[in-house]
Amino acid sequence: MTADLSPVTLLWALRSPCNLGCRYCYFGTIEEHREAMPQQSGAMSHLARTDLDLTAITAFVHTLPGSRVKRIFIAGGEPLIWPPVMEVIAAIKAADVQVVLCTNGIPLNRPELVDRIITLGVDAVSVSVDSPDARYNDTWRPARNGKHGHQDVIGGIQALIAARGSRPSPKVGLYSVITRLNIDVIRAGAVLASELGCDYFVPQPIALDRGHALHTQLSLTGGDADPMSEAFTQLYHSGMPVRLPDPSYPGKVVDSITHESGFVSGCFGGTNLFFIQPDGSLYDCPSSLKITATATARTIRDADAHTLFAAAGPCTDCALFSRDCVNMWPLMGFDRFLTEQVPT
Ligand SMILES: C[S@@+](CC[C@H](N)C(=O)[O-])C[C@H]1O[C@@H](n2cnc3c(N)ncnc32)[C@H](O)[C@@H]1O
Ligand code: SF4
Repeated sequence: MTADLSPVTLLWALRSPCNLGCRYCYFGTIEEHREAMPQQSGAMSHLARTDLDLTAITAFVHTLPGSRVKRIFIAGGEPLIWPPVMEVIAAIKAADVQVVLCTNGIPLNRPELVDRIITLGVDAVSVSVDSPDARYNDTWRPARNGKHGHQDVIGGIQALIAARGSRPSPKVGLYSVITRLNIDVIRAGAVLASELGCDYFVPQPIALDRGHALHTQLSLTGGDADPMSEAFTQLYHSGMPVRLPDPSYPGKVVDSITHESGFVSGCFGGTNLFFIQPDGSLYDCPSSLKITATATARTIRDADAHTLFAAAGPCTDCALFSRDCVNMWPLMGFDRFLTEQVPT
């Protein structure tokens, strides 16, 4: 049998801390964790003290050249509030691996940071904003310092696009979390992205455990399927000058809200996509169902990318498809946001 040398994408939650306190964040809230830190394996916290240090991170990054890893999404927490992040990005780029930064956008108001993003050749920057409506956004994505908010996110995007000028990269995109309260963002987010001169827009469904305090208020239900389908149809026929995820994406989003969990044949998680947590734990994908089902995570600490991502064989069927998984499809289809040709 010939070895599978297909490229690997990493989603790397590089650091735990964050300057925002989004109420639905995958990392939970600082307030809850001050009361009690989550104990289950794979749970993340903005208060975690177990993040890999720069030495351990760079040791792993130095093993990337020649491995199957071809693209890394750097997320968190907020990666851009950790000063050494630029050193990490420089090392990843030197390994000839693409970098997509996922940020809440507020650090983009620092000109020296934007300059570094451009000169290091970061391939794309995805900025999270949940609405053109500042009040809505700042209700669900409040800053921990009580000062920053929507206007700073928009200002950060504008600063990055202005500094990029006529260069082809980084591509800049918006990511919006869709909840029961803002289904209209499916179209309104694309309008905002277009007005700002962004290159791509990704609306992603909120993923909250049933036990989450905001589950009833925010989680999408089967009753939201029709208005969401309608909004997606309008979006995909709008002709707006921003790129969107592959046309199969809206169907996946709607499927994920009508079925608690489902089945995906030939999922790429664990074959062409992997998820790294701030402490270095390595999972097949970021789905909480998958993380819970993983007996023992591997780690990137003291590990070599050639060994960790050695020929992985064919993609496998997965019965754990949920709304957690949905935003992996835009990650895996990210070429359509980077290419200069208009994708079909
Ligand atoms: C965890 S954040 C890390 C990067 C950066 N801090 C940011 O907000 O973009 C990555 C993405 O996950 C989204 N996100 C966080 N919690 C979520 C949830 N419960 N359901 C769906 N998306 C979520 C954020 O809005 C953001 O687009
Ligand atoms: S900015 Fe990102 S990491 Fe920070 S709380 Fe919000 S979603 Fe979570």
